Amino acid sequence: MNTDSRTAIVTGSAQGIGKAIAERLIADGNEVVLLDIADHVRQTAHEIKAAGSLQVDIRDLESLRAAVHGVGHEHGRLDILVNCAGTCGRESFEELSPATWNRDIETNLTATAFACQAAVFPYMRAQGRGRLVNVASVSGKVGGIGPVDPDGGGGRSGAAYAAAKAGTINLTRWIARQVGTWGITCNTVAPGPIASPMAAGADYGVGSLPIPRLGEPREVAGAVSYLVSSDADYTTGACIHVDGGSVLA
Ligand SMILES: NC(=O)c1ccc[n+]([C@@H]2O[C@H](COP(=O)([O-])OP(=O)(O)OC[C@H]3O[C@@H](n4cnc5c(N)ncnc54)[C@H](O)[C@@H]3O)[C@@H](O)[C@H]2O)c1
Repeated sequence: MNTDSRTAIVTGSAQGIGKAIAERLIADGNEVVLLDIADHVRQTAHEIKAAGSLQVDIRDLESLRAAVHGVGHEHGRLDILVNCAGTCGRESFEELSPATWNRDIETNLTATAFACQAAVFPYMRAQGRGRLVNVASVSGKVGGIGPVDPDGGGGRSGAAYAAAKAGTINLTRWIARQVGTWGITCNTVAPGPIASPMAAGADYGVGSLPIPRLGEPREVAGAVSYLVSSDADYTTGACIHVDGGSVLA
């Protein structure tokens, strides 16, 4: 256990990386509430012994704000917010649609901004302490991961996703600069190819990476655990790659 018992929300935690983050934060001794659009969020919460679950579409910003404030109200505090929910279109540039663009920007970037806002005001600012962790992607560093099809086909993480995750990394820096004097840190974890439902069936060309395999969700969770611990009290605006060296390739 490397943290005192605190109240945390993890979005996108019905499965995959978000579920692993929630499990790790629970193992660290925190009270964790799962938040996800999926029906099975409740079952996941039961399975991993979470403090609660909320079925919310984070693209509905009013519902998102109400959910975050509801957790703060019920627990009397809100210490940790991990924004992990995401969607990843894989259309080619030619076939990229406004619907995919809007979905991936709203889910990955817009909701992250407003969830952080709802956590800071009023709870984290009033407490004089808080931890915000946003899950981006190395797609936001290198313009999408996976081999490029020379004929223009899709398959690798798409344009909207790459743009949203780059935005998440700089949004995190902007928030970090604002909230530091309030005792709040804001950091990004940028995974590379991780074995999860989102990655199923995608070709990431992992054989050419410095660490030539897919990562595990628990390896992303370890970075989040560090960033919300007191060991990271002086770390803000950072972006930790958990990517097998993807950005070096
Ligand atoms: N798997 C990878 O290779 C990889 C790589 C880099 C970054 N990431 C990022 O990690 C995060 C977790 O991804 P994952 O691999 O676990 O994917 P996943 O698809 O398994 O999980 C994503 C979760 O987000 C939830 N979600 C999607 N839209 C939502 C909405 N509108 N409201 C609420 N919840 C919503 C889904 O229901 C799901 O439970 C995402 O932000 C993703 O972009 C994943």
